Amino acid sequence: MTKVLRSVVTGVGGYLPDKVVTNQDLAMFVDTSDEWIRERTGIHQRHKADDDQAASDLAVIAAQRALEAAGRTPDDVDLIIVATTTPDLTFPATAALVQRKLGCPIGIAFDVQAVCSGFVYALSVADGFVARGRSKCALVIGSETMTRLMDWNDRGTCVLFGDGAGAVVLEPQDGEGAVSDRGLLGFALRADGTKQDLLFVDGGPGTTGTRGFLRMQGNQVFRHAVVNISEAIHAAAEDAGVPVASVDWFIPHQANQRILEGVARRVGIDEHKVISTVAQHANTSAASIPLALDQGVKDGRVKPGQLLLLEAMGGGLTWGACVLRL
Ligand code: ACO
Repeated sequence: MTKVLRSVVTGVGGYLPDKVVTNQDLAMFVDTSDEWIRERTGIHQRHKADDDQAASDLAVIAAQRALEAAGRTPDDVDLIIVATTTPDLTFPATAALVQRKLGCPIGIAFDVQAVCSGFVYALSVADGFVARGRSKCALVIGSETMTRLMDWNDRGTCVLFGDGAGAVVLEPQDGEGAVSDRGLLGFALRADGTKQDLLFVDGGPGTTGTRGFLRMQGNQVFRHAVVNISEAIHAAAEDAGVPVASVDWFIPHQANQRILEGVARRVGIDEHKVISTVAQHANTSAASIPLALDQGVKDGRVKPGQLLLLEAMGGGLTWGACVLRL
C-alpha cells in the first residue's frame, strides 16, 4: 500500500460555561414551556457565557484541555483554526486572540465561518495543512456565544441555542492509505447560498452596523436538514471508502433530537451509535460536534481506533460530513 500522511486527532477537549439556563428558567420570560421545547427539540437546558466571557475565552479552555489530552503544550502549536459565528471582534480573527491567550509561538491562525457546519469545514481546511506536512500540531476549535445573537422576543429561535467550545489537536501520522488508518479519511462539504433567507443574522458591520439577531424559518430548515445531511453522509463515506453502517459512532451537530434520529434512521445507523448532547447543551453551533465528541471520549464510549461519522448543517445553508478513525 502507498504511504500517506494522515491528520490524526490526538486530543479532544471541551468547555461549557458554568451558568445553566433550564427550559423552566426561559419560560419565566419567554412565551414557551418546558414541555414544548422537550417535545419539539429534545432540549432540557443550555449553558450561557458570562458577560465578560467571549468566544476566545471559551476556546482557550477547550484548547488547553485538548492539548493536555494530546500530551502537547501551547509551544507545540503551529496552526490554530477557530470555527465561529460569534467572534470576539470583527477582527483580528478569534484564532489570533486564542494564539495570544494560550501563549503559542508565531504560526498560522485564522477563523472559518460556516455557522453550524463550521467545525466540519475547519477540519477539512486543517487537513490541507496537516496531511501535507505543513503543520505538525494543529488546534481546530469550535467556539460560540450563540446566546448573544438571540432575539429574546422570538420564541421560535431563542430556546434553541447555547454557548460552549470544543477543540481537537490534529497531528500528522504515516498511514497505509487504507481505511484502517487513523485520521481524517473522508469529507463532503456543501453550500447553497440561495437558501440564505431560511437561516441568517439580520445585521453586520457591512450592512446595518449592528450585531443583528438570528432569524430562522425553523420548519423549512428542518425539511432540508434530513435530506441534505443524508446525501453528504453517503458522499463522505464513499470518499473514505467505508460503508455508512460500519461506523462505530455517529456524532452529529446537535440542533434537534428529531433531526439526529431522522438522519440516523435514513442512513441506516443504529440508534445506539448516536452520541447526543442536545438535551444538556442545546445547539452550540460550530462547538456542538467537538463538545459531543469530548463527551463521548470522557464517558468512555468513544475510543481510539474507532470509526466516527460527523455531520452538520447550518446557515448559508451550509452542510457537510466527515469520516475519521480516532
Ligand atoms: N414555545 C412554544 N411554542 C412555540 C415555540 C416555543 N419556543 N416556538 C414556536 N412555537 C409555536 C409556533 O408559534 C407555532 O405556533 P402556531 O402553530 O400557533 O403558529 C408552532 O409552535 C409550530 O411552529 P413550527 O416552527 O412549525 O414548529 P416546528 O415543529 O417546526 O419546531 C423547530 C420548530 C424546533 C425550530 C424545528 O423546526 C427545528 O428544529 N428546525 C431546524 C433547526 C435547525 O436545524 N437549524 C440548523 C442549525 S442552526 C444554525 O445553523 C445557526
